[in-house]
Amino acid sequence: MQISRMPSPFGVVAAGLDLSREMTDETMRALISQLHDNQILVIENQTLSDADYVRFGHFWGKPLAFFQQSHVRNDFPEMIRISNSASTPARYRDGAAHWHSDSTYEPVPAAVTMLYGIEAPATGGETLIANMALAYDALPEATRRRIDTMTALHCLGGSPALPGEKIPFIPEETARVGIVKHPLVMRHPVTGRKALFTSGTAFGVEGLERDEGRALIAQLRAHATRPEFVAKVKVRKGDIFLWDNFQTMHSATPIDYSDAEGERRLLYRISTKGLPDLCKAQAAALTGISSAANLL
Ligand SMILES: [Fe+2]
Repeated sequence: MQISRMPSPFGVVAAGLDLSREMTDETMRALISQLHDNQILVIENQTLSDADYVRFGHFWGKPLAFFQQSHVRNDFPEMIRISNSASTPARYRDGAAHWHSDSTYEPVPAAVTMLYGIEAPATGGETLIANMALAYDALPEATRRRIDTMTALHCLGGSPALPGEKIPFIPEETARVGIVKHPLVMRHPVTGRKALFTSGTAFGVEGLERDEGRALIAQLRAHATRPEFVAKVKVRKGDIFLWDNFQTMHSATPIDYSDAEGERRLLYRISTKGLPDLCKAQAAALTGISSAANLL
């Protein structure tokens, strides 16, 4: 396996690896540590069966089961299809085209999300990723000190949007899941590195007036999505693209909806929660990190 840096400001690519034959603990430990250290990882040129991809997913934590959604695959509930088929109902189109981290409206957010490219359009379909660890490091020290112990309030569809963004708001879902709290600065449960945690669901800060909290979150989100912290990744056929949800935000870019040859996109998504089994001993050594408690 060769690891090289992406041309973007961060992230790495793993090449020369055939996961259908080499999904060993040793290989997986190396991939997990590349993701934790570099926030995003692409593994090129894979030809995995559905069963093997789901087995790969389980190495990263406990996969979320998407039983409720229309695009779940009944045979593998860990996996959902993301497609730009012309038959996609209007309400699902470009639903991820806003800055967020996954499942942050839930008490335990996703730890890792992965997308496996089955079909890729000739143009378009990129994902933008903001590196929240680099963004945190670049803040003035006084700001870091001020926000380090703050707690943010999250709900589905609750965030101050950035200019030009659309934040989906689904009232019945918001009522169902309610308001949850996450640290505004997340310490990574395995590496201990700090990162801003200002997903699109953050709408307030505990202990601050409503408008002050909203303004602080909007300011931190605008800082974190500056071009020097953002990578643009296109998932090609055979790529597995992973992001560390504790150290990144992501935004889909709007895509054309089409079933034409060369314009179709089909991705299989798996998101996990909790820690990879292979990292549990490492994480246990990081005692005293309060934020790790609600991630496990
Ligand atoms: Fe997402």
